[in-house]
Amino acid sequence: MNVAEYDALHRRAIEDPEVFWGEAAKEIDWDRPWVRVLDDSNQPFYRWFTGGRLNTCYNAIDFHVHNGRGDQTAVIYDSPVTDTVRKITFRELRDEVARFAGVLREHGVGSGDRVVIYMPMIPESLIAVMACARIGAIHSVVFGGFASEELAKRIDDAKPRLVVSASCGIEAKRIVEYKPLLDGALEMVEAKPRHCIVFQRPQATASLIDGRDLDWDSEIAKAQPADCVSVEATDPLYILYTSGTTGIPKGVVRDHGGHAVAIKWTMKNIYDVEPGDVYWSASDIGWVVGHSYILYGPLLAGCATVIYEGKPVGTPDPGAFWRVISQHKVKVLFTAPTAIRAIKREDPNAEYMSKYDLSCFKYLFLAGERCDPDTLNWASEHLQVPVIDHWWQTETGWAIAANCAGLGLLPIKPGSPTKPAPGWDVRVLNESGKEMPPGQIGHLAVKLPLPPGSLPTLWNNDEGFVHSYLSEYEGYYTTADAGYKDEDGYVYIMARTDDIINVAGHRLSTGGMEEVLASHADVAECAVVGVADQLKGEIPAGFVVLKAGVDRSEREIVGELIQKIREKIGPVASFKVATVVKRLPKTRSGKILRGTIKKIADGVEYTTPPTIDDPAILDEITEALKKLGYPK
Ligand code: COA
Ligand code: AMP
Repeated sequence: MNVAEYDALHRRAIEDPEVFWGEAAKEIDWDRPWVRVLDDSNQPFYRWFTGGRLNTCYNAIDFHVHNGRGDQTAVIYDSPVTDTVRKITFRELRDEVARFAGVLREHGVGSGDRVVIYMPMIPESLIAVMACARIGAIHSVVFGGFASEELAKRIDDAKPRLVVSASCGIEAKRIVEYKPLLDGALEMVEAKPRHCIVFQRPQATASLIDGRDLDWDSEIAKAQPADCVSVEATDPLYILYTSGTTGIPKGVVRDHGGHAVAIKWTMKNIYDVEPGDVYWSASDIGWVVGHSYILYGPLLAGCATVIYEGKPVGTPDPGAFWRVISQHKVKVLFTAPTAIRAIKREDPNAEYMSKYDLSCFKYLFLAGERCDPDTLNWASEHLQVPVIDHWWQTETGWAIAANCAGLGLLPIKPGSPTKPAPGWDVRVLNESGKEMPPGQIGHLAVKLPLPPGSLPTLWNNDEGFVHSYLSEYEGYYTTADAGYKDEDGYVYIMARTDDIINVAGHRLSTGGMEEVLASHADVAECAVVGVADQLKGEIPAGFVVLKAGVDRSEREIVGELIQKIREKIGPVASFKVATVVKRLPKTRSGKILRGTIKKIADGVEYTTPPTIDDPAILDEITEALKKLGYPK
């Protein structure tokens, strides 16, 4: 497809969404057809495929067994940290999922009940997720790198009937025992689940609490398989919590019908895969990328999905990704730019890469953070395949802007995730909602309705949904990203407009970290900003002002602050840089000038804001940053 043809298709999807998505929906097996493709009767809450009934697990697994793919590999579990490779066919997967669905049902979980899943990258996590979908229960996966308090917040909001967990996760350098973290969370929560089902791993077995905790294997052994339950297209499939501007995470809801239609459409049209191909998303099931493209997308499309329990480097070397691609005949890899930066740093001349036959490999897709042209160019030069940056968010569920390989690649412009994907009417708006001309930066907003697969609302919080996303510009979804479009309509993503930062592709709230720092007994006030990092894109840096009279050593206090974030938020925050300052730069109205601190740290030119209370503080901040080695 050339640019003009692509633009025409994009226009059709916007102008006639019912025809476009109605056509895409034919790829899904429905128990009952929808009454309306797009139901706009309750704006701004748009719903897709109202009246339709389906089961997402059926479409992802049983459908393929019924259509002659039962013996095809559905899951490839590759775990360098345990030296394991295990393959599961669609038929075996159906049977294992049905059994675990039977376990859930046995413990009273039914349609609409929530199940929190706090698990590492093992096939049982996918089985637990699919088992929920099978019986219409709503899963909420919590990333394993979050500590007790973050887990507790999510449990209290989702109020699950059950929690499913594992005894441990395995990181490159250590074993992370999940059970003590889960126990800690359950002590904090008000919404106590009835039971926890724990998958015991030999690397660290967990002690189970009598009456509350159940052993996965023993439960499976006595379970009766459960069949797929038909649900409404608009019923929630899952809740995925993501960082908001405060420490309270937002529960992004995904529905069954719109999600299945959109995600299956993207597999063919964005990622260019066919049934039988091997698709690998080297992310984690705790993130949206993991939901859409480890758990659901590949299976809906009849592909094999790779569950990789390892890192891009160190497990055992920077050739790990290429080994997996070559060994399992991966056609498409999707990861974050930070993973490629990590590989490039250790293997700049791609010597490890050259050891593997990568003839099966067709595309590298990147997302999760800004993709710097250096990384993109390095990867395309050495891999000799298209390297495709695409832009999306937990909320959107799939790419807002992408180079749709399945439709025919458009010219790649490093630094841009290409053009808005079909269904996404992306506009660049100024403060008063007027569209900006090409080349000028503004707020990136999407004209409603959002396409299927994007969030219909926040869990139990319609008001929060409208407030967070739809209230800034009437009739638009605000992405909270700033950027511009060029003359050709290519989108460029420049920065978040809120206090979200992206650390190694992980989305974190600096506001949430400030809440933790502020709770330290010696801290009077604080600011956390994201500073540029060569490997992780951004890392958080903390600036604290101590209470009057505190005379303990800075080293000791900073150590405690780092430990506190690790305990309260989790190691994934990568909070390792903090300093004590006498004062924070503020406007006369008391707003902390975080943007200016960031510019100083990154060595970017800045002008002293005219509203600053005392410009001399900026010199103090510059000095403090110098001591920390910034700008790098
Ligand atoms: N469970 C428990 N702890 C976890 C975890 C998990 N699932 N995932 C990460 N952590 C811990 C790590 O062990 C590390 O702890 P440490 O401070 O004790 O070393 C910390 O959280 C930070 O982890 P990470 O961000 O992964 O950094 P790293 O230095 O271990 O590795 C990269 C750096 C670049 C190799 C790694 O970030 C990476 O592979 N990134 C890919 C990003 C990605 O997949 N993003 C998802 C969106 S597409
Ligand atoms: P998450 O919800 O974790 O997927 O994070 C979403 C945010 O990550 C977006 O709002 C962007 O700020 C950033 N992001 C994701 N993909 C890209 C990309 N391709 N280019 C630039 N930023 C991106």
